[in-house]
Amino acid sequence: MVESMDVSEIPDSRTAAAALLAYYADLGVEVGSSEMGIDRFAESEAAAAARAPAPQSRPEPSQSPAPARPAPAAPAMTNEMAAATAGEAKTLDELKDALSRFDGCALSKTATNLCFASGNPEAKLMFVGEAPGREEDLQGEPFVGRAGQLLDKMLAAIGRDRTSCYIANVIYWRPPGNRNPNPEELVACRPFINKQIELVDPDVLVFLGGVPAKEMLSTTDGILKLRGRWRDFDTGKRTIPAIATLHPAYLLRQPAQKKLAWKDFRAIRDKLA
Ligand code: URA
Repeated sequence: MVESMDVSEIPDSRTAAAALLAYYADLGVEVGSSEMGIDRFAESEAAAAARAPAPQSRPEPSQSPAPARPAPAAPAMTNEMAAATAGEAKTLDELKDALSRFDGCALSKTATNLCFASGNPEAKLMFVGEAPGREEDLQGEPFVGRAGQLLDKMLAAIGRDRTSCYIANVIYWRPPGNRNPNPEELVACRPFINKQIELVDPDVLVFLGGVPAKEMLSTTDGILKLRGRWRDFDTGKRTIPAIATLHPAYLLRQPAQKKLAWKDFRAIRDKLA
């Protein structure tokens, strides 16, 4: 059951209250005169089961079935080149420029656009997702597709929007067919996302989904084990509180898990307060 929440806890604009109600509605919970939300998960799951077969459109990142493939050996040279290139950047613009010239990640050859960031570089809250999908590749901006729309609702429910957060990915170019990024691609991009976090220097860092959580926390644990717990992320310059939560694309497939994400988002809101 999703815990009910006093709307007065949310920043006091009507927009935020409306956004919270929209997010509740999206969760399948009604907020009315009763204090307790009505759990509609059972209903929505039954309805989902009764629906026509899943659409044949390509899955968002994290939804791909990820065909098993042997991991290539870690390309130490690429990582060194990337670290040297990223290390020279003094600003986010310089980092973006360096990435646009970097040819150490094969994904840059097949992608339409580099997806560097969305949102406000001055924000105290930074999200790190997985990799661009089709929409992101076309628009050159992270989280503008369906997963991004859900992320916007989740942000609105804690009184935020893209002007008060900054969003990047551990992978800067779309993997073909939205497959999961392979270890070689993660290794090539890693120095850039490390540097991006250092330059943005947020007060709270959130990893969206298993791929970024495992990569950035250097663990093989699954997201359901990793999520919801505060850890220290060391940028080399500063230690930043970091938390992993469920990826919005996963929540689109598993709406009943939104209650866990909502818990994590409340923890994020409280940490920032
Ligand atoms: N999913 C991600 O992880 N990142 C995006 O930019 C879009 C979808």
